[in-house]
Amino acid sequence: MTPYELIRAKRDGGTLPTEALRSLLAAYARGDVPDYQMAALCMAVFFRGLDRGELRSWTEAMVRSGRTLRRDPASPPRIDKHSTGGVGDKVSLCLAPLVAACGVAVPMVAGRGLGHTGGTLDKLSAIPGLRTDLPLTRVEGILAEIGVCIVGQTEELVPADRRLYALRDVTATVESIPLIAASILSKKLAEDLDGLVLDVTVGSGALMHQREDAELLARTLVDLARDLGCPAVAWLTSMDAPLGRAVGNGSELLEAVDVLRGAGPADLRAVTLRLGAEMLLLGRGAGTVEEGEARLAGAIADGSGLERFRALVRAQGGDPAVLDDPSRLLGSLESTPVRAPVGGVLAEVDTLAVGLAAVLLGAGRTRSDEAIDPGVGFTVLHHPGEPVARGEPLAIVHHRPGQDVTEVCERLAAAFRIAESAGPLPPLFIARLEASRP
Ligand code: URA
Repeated sequence: MTPYELIRAKRDGGTLPTEALRSLLAAYARGDVPDYQMAALCMAVFFRGLDRGELRSWTEAMVRSGRTLRRDPASPPRIDKHSTGGVGDKVSLCLAPLVAACGVAVPMVAGRGLGHTGGTLDKLSAIPGLRTDLPLTRVEGILAEIGVCIVGQTEELVPADRRLYALRDVTATVESIPLIAASILSKKLAEDLDGLVLDVTVGSGALMHQREDAELLARTLVDLARDLGCPAVAWLTSMDAPLGRAVGNGSELLEAVDVLRGAGPADLRAVTLRLGAEMLLLGRGAGTVEEGEARLAGAIADGSGLERFRALVRAQGGDPAVLDDPSRLLGSLESTPVRAPVGGVLAEVDTLAVGLAAVLLGAGRTRSDEAIDPGVGFTVLHHPGEPVARGEPLAIVHHRPGQDVTEVCERLAAAFRIAESAGPLPPLFIARLEASRP
């Protein structure tokens, strides 16, 4: 079938044949199909969707557009985690080395931040000299040596997704559940995994604001992973408040290191242990979630998780000594508090607004080619449900000396709603999903 025939078939609600999809996506990755035809097909998919078989063929074709990570048959099980992201979500940074310290390899291909959500690569790149743009042969070498790496997508890995994601971004076709699922899973499956844990966030700071949408995405992801031979588990977790206290690249990295040191905020530690335990379960490093959590807590207590993170930093070209010297990581900063205008209970945090205020401060980007400042950010001092006194700081803005933060502070102040009492708060762990039978 020609691209024209495929677009017309999907537009009219038809089913796209596997072979035709394969050759279309391979041709698109080579540059042999023009963007306008691919954009039209994405829009047809946006309205008509893809059935389970089509989604499988689409995703397989994306994986085949590049090369996959090689592995030695004797190497330990390989499990990864993907989060749909949010504000203050630095889980990957502490989770990946902890899981590796428990004997399960983590070949994490992560992303940069765009819009209100931060990206793992930006947080890790706060370390001077550290590289996340490594060739796949080097990634394979690091995995063989230390069992963990955190890198970005390259031209070698799912090139069809690189082109397609950029195209979807400018043609209003990002918000399509099958296209999101194919994009996420094609990159993960190119890592040649034995299992995948998905963290699908829900709430004001998440990609999915409503539970039903998040559940549909999570279900689509776990079923698609299963159809492609990769066991997967998804957790819906709350993103109705920033995760942890730190928002900003360098400070989030330091907060993740705090967890590895046995400190850090309780919510961040809890999500790290739960998702990490699910990874150990899939990788046969634990028989139950409780046993997995206990093993990970052991890797925090004996310092092996932190040691593995230092090894990752070294292997990727950074100097782990900066983890002990926040001023080298963050540079020179001043602090401005954002105070509660009235006393009461913190009823709600508009987490999207917090993320957008961080972008305005310079901690995030609105265009993929924008530079960010790794040092600036916020410390969020209160979470929903906590009492606050009038005039008490709700958050601290960390900014460059002389930087005008008037609008940032105004936006941040407006993001906190204080009331006489708080309504019911969503649990941090909302639901767990496994794949259904095809
Ligand atoms: N993240 C991805 O990698 N792809 C999408 O389409 C959306 C989020």
